[in-house]
Amino acid sequence: MALFDDGYTANPHPALAELRQTGPAHRVTSPAGIPFWLVTRWDEARLVLTDPSLSKQQPMDGLPPQLRSALTTQMLLRDPPDHTRLRRLVSAGFTPRRTEALRPRIEQLTDRLLGAFAADAEVDVIDRLAVPLPFEVICELLGIPAAERGPFRAWSDTIIVGGADMSAALAQTVAYFRDLLTRKRVRPADDLLSTLAVIVDDGDRLSDDELVGMALLLVVAGHETTANLIGNTVHLLSRHPSQRSRLRDDPGLVTAVVEEVLRMASPSATSTYRVTTRPITLGDTTIPAGEQVLVSLLAANRDPGRFTDPNTFDPGRPDGGHLAFGHGIHFCLGAPLARMEAQIAVRRLFARHPDLEVTVAPSELRWRTGLLMHGLRSLPIRLEGQRS
Ligand code: HEM
Repeated sequence: MALFDDGYTANPHPALAELRQTGPAHRVTSPAGIPFWLVTRWDEARLVLTDPSLSKQQPMDGLPPQLRSALTTQMLLRDPPDHTRLRRLVSAGFTPRRTEALRPRIEQLTDRLLGAFAADAEVDVIDRLAVPLPFEVICELLGIPAAERGPFRAWSDTIIVGGADMSAALAQTVAYFRDLLTRKRVRPADDLLSTLAVIVDDGDRLSDDELVGMALLLVVAGHETTANLIGNTVHLLSRHPSQRSRLRDDPGLVTAVVEEVLRMASPSATSTYRVTTRPITLGDTTIPAGEQVLVSLLAANRDPGRFTDPNTFDPGRPDGGHLAFGHGIHFCLGAPLARMEAQIAVRRLFARHPDLEVTVAPSELRWRTGLLMHGLRSLPIRLEGQRS
């Protein structure tokens, strides 16, 4: 299956374009033998993301109770009315103002990471900027003390990579968050966990399980995705010299650049899974009840039915409406934070190193494998023309 081979990893777009041309939804079997439907067109993608008959709730049988409670209490895995309640309570603490308040800290963290490049002629921008920045930002947001970030980073990396060690790392992270929550209750600080621990909305509040689930969700949802966005932006800019010099002349263009990268190289390549609770018809395809459905955001965001010249990198293009952060009730809660991080990181990186060059050919780039994420595992750059 073209969706799971090395060619797809290196360049997913030809296979997705072929699927999109053939029809709006396709029955696919994963290499592990698990069947699901992949939705590839923009119209149908929006439909699937908003249709309330598709459920996010999955049975979690077989998981240890502690983990089950941390997963089943996450808003991303709940339907209304539970989702509505969780999203309302979390949004009361994770406000635009809290995101904006992180700006100076993100600038500082970015400068620290870029400052550490100084002695090197060549660096891997994924390892040195794209991955550590979002990680540090989530730690700042949640209020994880600096001295405790080392082991926490190791667990969260293991969770993101998946595989045999994942359950143990999840259990350690959940235990850590439980302990952190206890400490925040005794000694609250100006962070999201302390804030949410005491927020009461209409007499309703988040339970300990829900707080731990929320913390876990933010780590998983906000780390690798944002790292991919930063990496994909550096990559696309390095391949488009004219856009890059426009950005140099007008740094304010970074907003449009990041938006166009979200569309063309959607960091979260798919939505998360939904399950049909009744048959749904997409074009001439009917998906029966009880089937798993995944939306290819990468494919929908290059649908020629929606975007003019979808394969052209065109920051500021008039046809907006990309689905990189999803759509509908589960629209990404961290979108403003992710945008801000990427804009700061990219602007500052290119301001310091206006002549940076990617040192590997496009065909030699190492991409993350799998259908769910679209991002680079490494992106070596040569730092020429450094400005202090
Ligand atoms: C949901 C993408 C960064 C928190 C989502 C969804 C997408 C997405 C596509 C919806 C999934 C679905 O409907 O199946 C991204 C991308 C990011 C990013 C591309 C970076 C470029 C972040 C960050 C945070 C975050 C930084 C928080 C720190 C969340 C949460 C949800 C979510 C809490 C669940 C919302 C709900 O269920 O109501 N994200 N995300 N994300 N994201 Fe993000």
